[in-house]
Amino acid sequence: MSALSLEDLHEADAPQNVALSRSVGWKDVESEWRVLHRAAHVRGVRHEGHVIAQGALGDYGSCASLAKMVVAKHHQGQGLGGRLLDAFLEEARARRIAVGLCATEQGRPLYASRGFQASGEIAVLFGAVSGPSAPASVVTLLDAERAVELDARFSGCDRSRMVRARAAEASTRLELTTEAGFALATDQGDHTLVGPILAESEAGARALLLGVAAAVGGKLRVDVPLPQAGFRSWLAERGLSDMGHRVEMAHSAPRMPWQAPERFALASQAWG
Ligand SMILES: CC(C)(COP(=O)(O)OP(=O)(O)OC[C@H]1O[C@@H](n2cnc3c(N)ncnc32)[C@H](O)[C@@H]1OP(=O)(O)O)[C@@H](O)C(=O)NCCC(=O)NCCS
Repeated sequence: MSALSLEDLHEADAPQNVALSRSVGWKDVESEWRVLHRAAHVRGVRHEGHVIAQGALGDYGSCASLAKMVVAKHHQGQGLGGRLLDAFLEEARARRIAVGLCATEQGRPLYASRGFQASGEIAVLFGAVSGPSAPASVVTLLDAERAVELDARFSGCDRSRMVRARAAEASTRLELTTEAGFALATDQGDHTLVGPILAESEAGARALLLGVAAAVGGKLRVDVPLPQAGFRSWLAERGLSDMGHRVEMAHSAPRMPWQAPERFALASQAWG
C-alpha cells in the first residue's frame, strides 16, 4: 500500500470520483464534481487505473472547506484516508488558514485524531413542499456576480470560485427584492438540492425556499444548521422530513466564518 502515491485529480476524473462516492452509498452526480474540480484542490490515489481514494480542499482565501473524503471499501483502514487528510492539512498549515468540514460518523474519529473539533450541527431535510407558490418578493437572479457579492457579505470569506461554479450549474437562481438574500438550487437527478439559502431574515429564507419549490417541483433536499429551529419547524410543517444530522467540525479555529446567522441552508455539505 505504501507504494501508492497521492496525486492531483482533474475534471476528466469526474466520472471516477462519482463512482467512488457512489461505492460508499453517496448519491453524487457529475455536476457536483465539475464544481469541485473548478473551485477546489482535488487529490486522490489511483490503483490499477481506478481512483481508490479522494478528497477536495475548497479554497475560500482566508479559510478552506474540506470535502468528499472517500477511500474505497477494500482499501479502508490502511492509512490512505489519514495520508490524504495530512496532505490537505499541510497545505492549510503552509497558508496559515483554518479548515472546516461536515463529518460522517465514519469520518469523525479520523478528523478528531488530527485536531478537528465540533463547531456545529446540521439537519438534512428532505421531501416535497406542499402547495408551493412563488412569492412576489422573489425574482430570478440573473447575474452570478450578484450571488458572489451577497455570499461574501454573509459568509465572511471569499467563496467566489464555488459560488460562480455552482451558479453556472444551478437549475434555479433566486434573489430577494425585499432584503439582501439569495438561493441556488441544483438538480441531483431524483431530487433538487437547495443551497445555499442566505438571507437577512427567516421570512426571506422561507420566500426563497418557496420560490425554488414552485420553480422545480418534486422532492427537495435542504441541509439546515440546527440553530435555525424556526426554519426547520416551518419546513417540517410544509412536508419535509428530518433524515438525520451531521456534525460540522473546524481545525485551527473554534468555528468557520460561513457558520453565520444568515445561513439558512448550506451550499452543500461539501461547501458549508
Ligand atoms: C473515513 C475514511 C475516509 C477513512 O479512510 P481510511 O483510509 O479508512 O482511514 P485510515 O486507514 O487512514 O484511518 C484513519 C484513522 O482511523 C483509524 N481507523 C481506521 N479504520 C479503523 C477501524 N476499522 N476501526 C477503528 N479505527 C480505525 C486509524 O487508526 C486511523 O487513525 P491514525 O491515522 O491516527 O492511526 C473512510 O473510512 C471512508 O471512505 N468512509 C466512507 C466515506 C466517509 O464517511 N467519508 C468521510 C466523509 S466526512
